[in-house]
Amino acid sequence: MKTRRELLTLMAAGAAVASTTRIWAQNSPEPAAIPDVTGPNSLRAHAEARDLLVGCAVVPEKLTGEPDYAALVASQCNILVPENAMKWPALRPAPGKFNFRGADTIIDFASAHGQKVRGHNLCWHEALPSWFAATVTKDNARQILAEHIRTVAGRYAGKLHSWDVVNEAIDPKSGLPDGLRKSPWLEFAGPDYIDLAFRTAREADPAALLTYNDYGIETDAPDETEKRAAVLALVRGMKKRGVPIDAIGIQSHLKAWNPEPGNGLRDFVRELRQIGLRVFITELDVDEKKLEGSDAERDSAIARIYRDYATMMVAEPNVDAILTWGITDRYTWLNGPKWARPDGKPQRCLPFFADYRPAPAFFALRDALDTRSAPHS
Ligand code: G3I
Repeated sequence: MKTRRELLTLMAAGAAVASTTRIWAQNSPEPAAIPDVTGPNSLRAHAEARDLLVGCAVVPEKLTGEPDYAALVASQCNILVPENAMKWPALRPAPGKFNFRGADTIIDFASAHGQKVRGHNLCWHEALPSWFAATVTKDNARQILAEHIRTVAGRYAGKLHSWDVVNEAIDPKSGLPDGLRKSPWLEFAGPDYIDLAFRTAREADPAALLTYNDYGIETDAPDETEKRAAVLALVRGMKKRGVPIDAIGIQSHLKAWNPEPGNGLRDFVRELRQIGLRVFITELDVDEKKLEGSDAERDSAIARIYRDYATMMVAEPNVDAILTWGITDRYTWLNGPKWARPDGKPQRCLPFFADYRPAPAFFALRDALDTRSAPHS
């Protein structure tokens, strides 16, 4: 009698090639050669050959309900991150109630496929549960935050690669001291809420790499350069106060029309290495809503951005992981109304198309992984 985990493993491993064939047969106008991108040809194999982690954000319902999606995630990733399943609304339907079903599904899937898991995220100004505004006050915010972190990080202690402990706390446009973002946590728990979150997370799970995660710090645009400096000042201050922090998450939601990342990002990663911090590329995708041209021309431009960005990043020895925010265009957040293309065409922003065929971005990312110097034997 096979356990659930053994069945999961068999299903995904066996379905990996079969599913690709099935999907292609459904979606290809004429029989097309199906490049086999599983096994030794997968992102996972190319990453592991260089001691790198590669993966994506996942949705638990699709891992259990969609074999094609599960097979793709199993074959391509050695690290996963919940897109939403570990955020407050998913975990806490009511102030005194926790629901770990989605998060546990991801942990189980990863365990069955030898994959690591990132936690995302313990403290954020967005994705606050519906009961938050009516419940949290200056008097109880610190206790509620600490209790949340102790309960959630404690439940998964020893099982996670890393936690995004605090997400997006810097926003120089706010004009607040230290470039802190105007956040309910800052308002109710005070300016040291970040320190509180990291200290509590370390106590709850000493094994997880504690990460500060943010976006809009990738290019040499003046606002991004300013934000990067504020993030660096934040982490320098934390280190000075003895606050436990191990890594920085650079979300990397790149924009196909923006100036590509340049020396500022590279220098930032090197400064982080100087102060002993690891770097994870945590939410890589390419918003191409303003790209014009044929699908092939768009795909080629997007692939080049993946190639250039990932090549620059894996050249830095303290960059350990690259996760894309989703794995197939079919489910990208960038198909939401706010990011829709003016021509109404779906975004082509991830390594796999909506029909699960590998996009040029897949091959570009895989080539970039190969540029990482092989691990010292
Ligand atoms: O689960 C509910 C469902 O029950 C309800 O019927 C439905 C309609 O209201 O909403 C569903 O929740 C949605 C959730 O995604 C799950 O689909 C939320 O409304 C929606 O706001 C949420 O959006 C997510 C967003 O973060 C906010 O949490 C996106 O999927 C997710 O891709 C996005 O990811 C963020 C990272 O966490 C942080 N970095 C930026 C990145 C992109 O915004």
